[in-house]
Amino acid sequence: MAIASCAPCHEAIVRSYAATGMGRSVSRPTEEARGKGKHSGQEWEVASKAGKLTHRVGGETRSPEWAVGSGHEGKSYIWRVGDSFFQSPLAWYSRRGAWDLSPGYAAGATIDFLRPITADCLGCHTGESRAVKGTLNRYEGGDPIPVPGIHCARCHGNAEAHIRDGRRGNIVNPARLAARERDSVCEQCHLSGATRVPLPGKSFGDFRPGMALEQVFSVYLPVAESGFKVVSHAEQLAQSACAKGAGEKLWCGSCHDAHREPAEAGRWFRERCVGCHAQTRPHGDDCAGCHMPRTSARDGGHTAFTDHRIRKPGGAVAKEGPVKGLRAWREPALEWRARGLGLAYAGVGELERAYGLLRGVAEDGEVQSALGLIFLRSGKGAEAVAVLERAAKAEPGNSTRRLNLAAALLAAGQRGRAAEEARQAMAIEPRMQDAYVLMAEIEPGRAAYWRERFEGLMRK
Ligand code: HEC
Ligand code: HEC
Ligand code: HEC
Ligand code: HEC
Ligand code: HEC
Ligand code: HEC
Ligand code: HEC
Repeated sequence: MAIASCAPCHEAIVRSYAATGMGRSVSRPTEEARGKGKHSGQEWEVASKAGKLTHRVGGETRSPEWAVGSGHEGKSYIWRVGDSFFQSPLAWYSRRGAWDLSPGYAAGATIDFLRPITADCLGCHTGESRAVKGTLNRYEGGDPIPVPGIHCARCHGNAEAHIRDGRRGNIVNPARLAARERDSVCEQCHLSGATRVPLPGKSFGDFRPGMALEQVFSVYLPVAESGFKVVSHAEQLAQSACAKGAGEKLWCGSCHDAHREPAEAGRWFRERCVGCHAQTRPHGDDCAGCHMPRTSARDGGHTAFTDHRIRKPGGAVAKEGPVKGLRAWREPALEWRARGLGLAYAGVGELERAYGLLRGVAEDGEVQSALGLIFLRSGKGAEAVAVLERAAKAEPGNSTRRLNLAAALLAAGQRGRAAEEARQAMAIEPRMQDAYVLMAEIEPGRAAYWRERFEGLMRK
């Protein structure tokens, strides 16, 4: 369903939406300024060759095929080899007007072009992308990102009936949903938390406008002494006196028009505030400027720049204190709570807590995978093999499950079978770096061969 199919009847919306950050969220790279730098002895450079943007690190050069991000804050870059997508270690930072390392690379000893671009990443940044199921970063041939901008359907759902018979009531209007379902429309992308856990058999992409998020997945947030540690817009807003006072009436749509970025931001937002604060004694026009200040530029993180806690300027900020654990933003159905929280702890590497919760729950592929890794890390090779074998069997076309099994088999001393599983993982996902690293461990005599084989595949 193309955006063009809405244009005949909603021309103004289609036009203004195309100019928003969400409407331009992924695009073909254009030429930006040049740049260069150095990181732990490695030189990098951004240039262009015959009109094509090029990223060079040491002796390796790549031409990105897609830019992620409209450039409000910045852009990350995707390059492709065969049908696999990888992230460039170099990113554009709009506020500084400069190239620098992509988030997460600065702490590392080396920079490379090997970080996979997973379906999750494109799930939040595109209208539609076609990832190959069971793989980390393979995409279908032809047109892997058929709808680069976030399109109408992500907030309005299926519109077939509505296009045939355009009227109110036969398409989702988020503003008219119950609060939980309404908020879920934005939270599907604007609430990433510490980790997100789908229900058994579901994936993030199964969410449709009109559902509650927790019918598909739950988001887990770090909790500190004072409550949720605030990172994203949704968490911050929930802490505001406005949200506490106005309850379900206040939501993202109270201040943002998803189809339009305001031409005069100061006036636009003042009108939203005054809608609820008509009685407030006049004491200034730029309400958001004083009550929702912008933080100083923080690079690349998925954090709010504009403070959505809406506070009195200079007012005391409750100390967050150290993080104590994770909690669901909204819990899934009772029967999935221990599973969800357990997988969330496993996802952030807190294995002991994960084990305590997962030990008692009905096993499925994801639970088996998490238990397997817990056994593996605590040196219980045989238990790891047993449970990871079940996980791999439940989804034979899943490269990660095959590779986890291979690692467990190696730990249990079954080298032959380990090699077999690692090869299966490679067959599913030929450019899975970890599979080659593991093969080098399984066959130490041929370590150089496996490294060269991987490097060869990354060049063509
Ligand atoms: C044939 C004309 C037509 C087409 C095509 C069309 N619409 Fe509409 N749409 C309408 C009319 C008419 C209304 C009702 C307007 C009103 O009552 O104010 C409407 C209303 C809506 C509403 C509000 C619904 C509500 O219950 O509040 C949404 C959302 C919407 N359209 C989205 C879309 C999207 C998205 C597309 C493209 C996928 C689309 N429309 C295509 C004619 C159309
Ligand atoms: C499919 C994922 C997705 C959904 C659904 C979504 N957003 Fe976004 N939103 C994004 C991304 C990605 C960006 C960053 C776009 C950029 O600048 O590259 C963004 C940016 C924004 C911005 C900054 C201005 C802009 O247009 O860039 C606002 C405001 C915003 N979203 C509000 C909302 C609201 C309100 C909803 C719910 C009605 C919503 N979003 C739903 C992914 C989403
Ligand atoms: C859970 C959804 C989600 C995932 C997963 C996600 N993002 Fe984002 N991203 C967003 C949203 C929403 C924004 C805009 C507002 C914000 O920062 O919260 C954003 C902002 C950005 C921006 C800044 C865009 C701009 O100019 O405003 C870049 C660049 C970016 N993301 C890159 C990535 C890359 C690359 C990945 C995957 C490796 C990724 N993101 C994964 C939701 C997501
Ligand atoms: C990021 C989420 C999001 C996206 C993407 C989005 N919309 Fe909407 N849309 C909303 C929300 C929220 C409302 C309710 C606004 C309100 O009444 O407060 C809405 C309302 C509407 C309405 C009815 C009210 C009006 O303003 O006339 C139409 C028509 C509509 N959208 C069409 C579209 C079309 C066409 C597209 C794609 C070009 C689109 N929308 C993309 C979130 C979105
Ligand atoms: C949906 C209604 C609504 C909207 C929109 C809204 N507020 Fe509020 N706000 C409230 C309510 C209710 C309270 C709590 C009762 C009160 O103090 O009036 C509140 C409280 C406040 C407070 C007091 C905070 C404190 O720490 O005591 C400030 C400041 C404030 N709002 C500023 C704003 C600004 C600025 C905007 C626009 C950017 C805004 N509000 C938008 C409903 C709203
Ligand atoms: C009380 C008003 C208000 C509400 C409610 C609100 N926002 Fe905002 N938001 C703002 C203002 C003001 C800005 C700054 C815009 C600017 O500078 O042009 C902003 C900016 C943003 C941006 C751009 C990045 C940044 O941090 O500056 C995103 C993304 C965003 N909001 C998402 C959301 C989401 C998601 C929700 C719901 C969870 C939400 N907002 C609710 C007022 C609000
Ligand atoms: C120049 C900065 C500034 C601007 C602009 C501003 N405020 Fe305030 N606002 C403050 C300060 C400072 C306080 C705290 C006053 C106090 O504690 O006595 C405050 C307090 C408030 C309160 C708490 C209740 C009260 O009356 O003390 C509300 C609500 C509020 N502002 C809303 C708004 C709205 C709505 C706008 C825009 C129409 C706005 N503010 C513009 C600085 C500002």
